[in-house]
Amino acid sequence: MPYFDFIYGTGWGAFAAMLAFQIPFLIFFLFIVFWKSFVSPKASRSPNKKAAGVEGMWMTVVVALFLAVNIISIQYIPAVSTAQAVQSGQDIQNVDVTAVSWSYEISDREFEVGNPVRFSAKSTDTQHGFAVYHPNGNVLFTMMLVPGMSASSLVYTFQDPGTYKVRCLEYCGLAHHAMSDELIVTASSN
Ligand code: CUA
Repeated sequence: MPYFDFIYGTGWGAFAAMLAFQIPFLIFFLFIVFWKSFVSPKASRSPNKKAAGVEGMWMTVVVALFLAVNIISIQYIPAVSTAQAVQSGQDIQNVDVTAVSWSYEISDREFEVGNPVRFSAKSTDTQHGFAVYHPNGNVLFTMMLVPGMSASSLVYTFQDPGTYKVRCLEYCGLAHHAMSDELIVTASSN
């Protein structure tokens, strides 16, 4: 199962994850307020040497976690996965996307599992987004399209057959919510 699908698979997953991250901080905060208000309201005199040791250890854990999460997630950065796809030497299917309020012109809407696809996207009127959703509802990638800029491009290799939703994730006016499209991914033919 790729990357936190078990949390984000349902629409409420991100919300639940956010709460799960915040509730411990809230409890800790309330506990400190309660403790310093009623139980031990005087200024604390913690033994400095001992505290320094614990702080050093805690800092090491935080730095190690920071490094680990960054290293593990590097492959999910679109620029990195694009470079990997280009270096693999596979044929890349080129697709042009033009966003215009409030729809997309897409030169090709059908793809095959395992074939890298280069989406080159631009906007001609206002700022739009080009976000592609897996059939299970996860966002696979999103691009911000700024009018007047040359096309942004990104290479993506679809892993599962199905109907993928395209949605605009940059607010672009009255019908922003209705700005969507579909891509069809079929099983590999070779
Ligand atoms: Cu286009 Cu929102």
